[in-house]
Amino acid sequence: MVSEKVQKKLNEQIQKEFYSAYLYLSMEAYLASRNLNGFANFFRVQAQEERDHAMMFFNYVNKVGGKVELGQIDAPKGDFESLEEVFKMALEHEQFVTKSIYSIVDLAQEEKDHKTNAFVQWFVNEQAEEEETAEYNLRRLQLVGTDGRGILMLDTELAQRVYTPPAGVQQV
Ligand SMILES: [Fe+2]
Ligand SMILES: [Fe+2]
Repeated sequence: MVSEKVQKKLNEQIQKEFYSAYLYLSMEAYLASRNLNGFANFFRVQAQEERDHAMMFFNYVNKVGGKVELGQIDAPKGDFESLEEVFKMALEHEQFVTKSIYSIVDLAQEEKDHKTNAFVQWFVNEQAEEEETAEYNLRRLQLVGTDGRGILMLDTELAQRVYTPPAGVQQV
């Protein structure tokens, strides 16, 4: 069992992960509408990852004998000014999620809930990677600026990304 407080936080995280998937799908749609299919592919893979993150929390709450409660998922922003705005927003969003994960760690440690603490450590590492990738993408994009050839080069590169489900995630 986990405490009511921990359960509430885990349920809120399920919602945040699904919202992340929703936000990245919105970015995919915007990029696809601009014929940037490689960039769109990158965010499709991001969205798949986020959905799996949500399911990992979902499965964990069930596994520890808790009760999953699904909250409302807000509509994400649908239109963007530029590619740079998309990447800046993706980075800011990951930073927000990192804070949220850290707050679960803090609560688990406060309550000496070592099980939840151990579970959520995977996400601590995952967030470090997510922020690194988001920063890398933003810096590369800022490097090419509005140069069409540079953008198409990045588009080709991002088209290569393939989804690999995280180890241990139960596919749905
Ligand atoms: Fe996530
Ligand atoms: Fe993420």
